[in-house]
Amino acid sequence: MPSQDDRQPLFAVTAPGLEPLAQAELRAMGIHGAAQAGGVAWTGGADDLYAANLRLRTASRVTVLAAEFRARTFFELERHARRVPWERWVPRGGAVRLRVTSRKSKLYHEGAIAQRVLEAVEHRVGPLAGGGVVADEEGGEDAGDAQMFIVRFVRDACTIRADASGALLHLRGYRQALARAPLRETLGAAMLLGSGWDGTAPLVDPMCGSGTIPIEAALIARGIAPGLANPERAPRGYAFTAWPEFDAARWSAAVDRAREEIRPSAAVPVLGSDRDQGAIEAAAANAARAGVPDDVEFSVRPISAIDPPPGPGWIVINPPYGVRVGERDPLRNLYAAVGRTLRDRCPGWTLALLSPDHALERQVGMPLDEALRTSNGGIPVRLVAGRVPQGR
Ligand SMILES: C[S@@+](CC[C@H](N)C(=O)[O-])C[C@H]1O[C@@H](n2cnc3c(N)ncnc32)[C@H](O)[C@@H]1O
Repeated sequence: MPSQDDRQPLFAVTAPGLEPLAQAELRAMGIHGAAQAGGVAWTGGADDLYAANLRLRTASRVTVLAAEFRARTFFELERHARRVPWERWVPRGGAVRLRVTSRKSKLYHEGAIAQRVLEAVEHRVGPLAGGGVVADEEGGEDAGDAQMFIVRFVRDACTIRADASGALLHLRGYRQALARAPLRETLGAAMLLGSGWDGTAPLVDPMCGSGTIPIEAALIARGIAPGLANPERAPRGYAFTAWPEFDAARWSAAVDRAREEIRPSAAVPVLGSDRDQGAIEAAAANAARAGVPDDVEFSVRPISAIDPPPGPGWIVINPPYGVRVGERDPLRNLYAAVGRTLRDRCPGWTLALLSPDHALERQVGMPLDEALRTSNGGIPVRLVAGRVPQGR
């Protein structure tokens, strides 16, 4: 068994466009990774793996490279797969699921690849619970405690990665009450970090829905790692805690370090409002579950009635998109009203907006620059930001 000091290739997977943010988050932890399409790669030991899972706000999962080889025949695949030290990540009698993709490769039948890989796992660790499950590209997120491996063939080169996170990292555990069109927690954090907000200036989300943006803001302002976003400050579950090579003492030291960094309260006001009463009830319940009930001030009000604290600070908004036909005209008016209200009530503040298209964002009527480009629920979006000018 490798020692926990062994450094290994690690990868923090992100949604497209969020790579530089995850890279900056890692840098703040003293980890220098290389941003690549889809995430950030670096070489590190167990401490890095534990810290990245516990602390990264913008990454979806963290993986460990298990093997890299070329295979053009099933014989070659079997030979290499049997040399992979599966027993590091799969306990005896454990469950495994595979996500297999193949592009431009001689071995293209994903089901047949999965079968050979599962046989190789059983060859080393003995029979698996349930015989192993093959997940499709997006599915299988609820496959319980099964250890996931991501098997990818591109031009006959195979990489196998062990998923260290388990449930996706946006599932911090606090958001159970939902309003309409909730934002992924990772994207909420990305909007904040991508807009340049660092937790030291007031923050207002006047269309906060279930509260994702202000709750993520409160977590940042208090220095609470996203993996500790609950009143007990107990870590959420991670796949790596079931690995045979898991080092419980090291993990508990990593959790203790993160707990010690938590500030007792946010030093700046964080406000969330929405015109929908049910959304604000959901947001307040979520904030309580995240362990930040006193760090966000929620209120029911339309954006036209916002009452920002002394600033300047940041206004961060995930407005309605209106993807359905007939929704665009009222939305144009709404975006224009947002611009008028902000020019009137918070000149000099920074506005950051998740924008579905240029035409709607132009309605806001102020210069906005692109800070990042990603997708939200399958819709391409841009985070645009700018200084709110004075006057209606
Ligand atoms: C896309 S959702 C925001 C989702 C939120 N970021 C979350 O994670 O749950 C847009 C929100 O804008 C709110 N909204 C729409 N028009 C509004 C207005 N004029 N004033 C205040 N809120 C408004 C809706 O009630 C809805 O909750």
